[in-house]
Amino acid sequence: MTTAAAPKVVHARAPGKINVFLKVGALLEDGYHDVATAYQAVSLCEDVRASAADDFSVTFTGPIDSSKLATGGTNLAIKAARLLARKAGYRGGVHLEIEKHVPIAGGMGGGSADAAATLLACDALWGTNLSREDLLDLAQQLGSDVPFAFIGGTAIGTGRGDQLSPALAKGQFQWVLAFADFGMSTPLVYSELDRHRDRHSQDIFPAAVQPQVDANVLQALRAGDPHMLAEVLHNDLQAPALHLEPELARVIELGEENGALAGMISGSGPTVAFLAANLDSALELQIALSAARLTVVRATGPVHGARILSA
Ligand code: C5P
Repeated sequence: MTTAAAPKVVHARAPGKINVFLKVGALLEDGYHDVATAYQAVSLCEDVRASAADDFSVTFTGPIDSSKLATGGTNLAIKAARLLARKAGYRGGVHLEIEKHVPIAGGMGGGSADAAATLLACDALWGTNLSREDLLDLAQQLGSDVPFAFIGGTAIGTGRGDQLSPALAKGQFQWVLAFADFGMSTPLVYSELDRHRDRHSQDIFPAAVQPQVDANVLQALRAGDPHMLAEVLHNDLQAPALHLEPELARVIELGEENGALAGMISGSGPTVAFLAANLDSALELQIALSAARLTVVRATGPVHGARILSA
């Protein structure tokens, strides 16, 4: 049931992310790993348009092929809408139209962005007016990366990646993103890391006792210096992701041969994120990688977290 004053369509947007630094610690009893990460929100965003409905449904548009995405109760945006309705005691539903720009199962938090934008959109559509803290609390229940999609910018994440503290960042970084034509399962990449650690008695992939973000990463972000940041980009999930999909190593190499300051697997992959020195070199890199028949998109960061664009 909607009130007469409720807007008909609410349009919210939330960003995808790159983990410019990700250290994975021990596997905890709850099946999650203790992590220390530096997130940057990038200008590749998900647009969610929410309209009043009796039930919960979702459809997809946009440049990403979403034909295989779940549209039922397992979809993270539907979960977000249902969770908010439950929390606020709202009895109606919502139809969500999601314009997808972030690759699916690509390691850039696309599903998390859908969930964060859905929380904001439904809160405005239904007039539930939850506090930011309450919405962030719901975000945390939905997934490790959802709180960051909600706050955006640049932030340090600890715990599962969901305990956030904002980090100072200057200027804009230029990224070139190479998409894969397949997705990777996050739990699978984490368990591949565990398997390697077991096999190699942790020599090769040590689980830091309490993982921490390297101080040089914070300094590079504060300075807004891509050369400094390129030196310290790090992702503990890169080795297991490359082990599962070895051809991604060639993509990283190709970017680095064509002017990228550095290339890395984004999150649990398979998207490869290249850091460029400036816009010109990002454009050149985009052309070179496109010529090699890769699907390539440029993005800048940091950008805003989830917000309402129109209601
Ligand atoms: O929180 P989220 O649902 O996005 O996590 C998906 C899966 O990724 C978890 O079930 C877990 O297997 C793995 N994960 C982890 N440690 C984290 C975050 C995620 O092992 N800190």
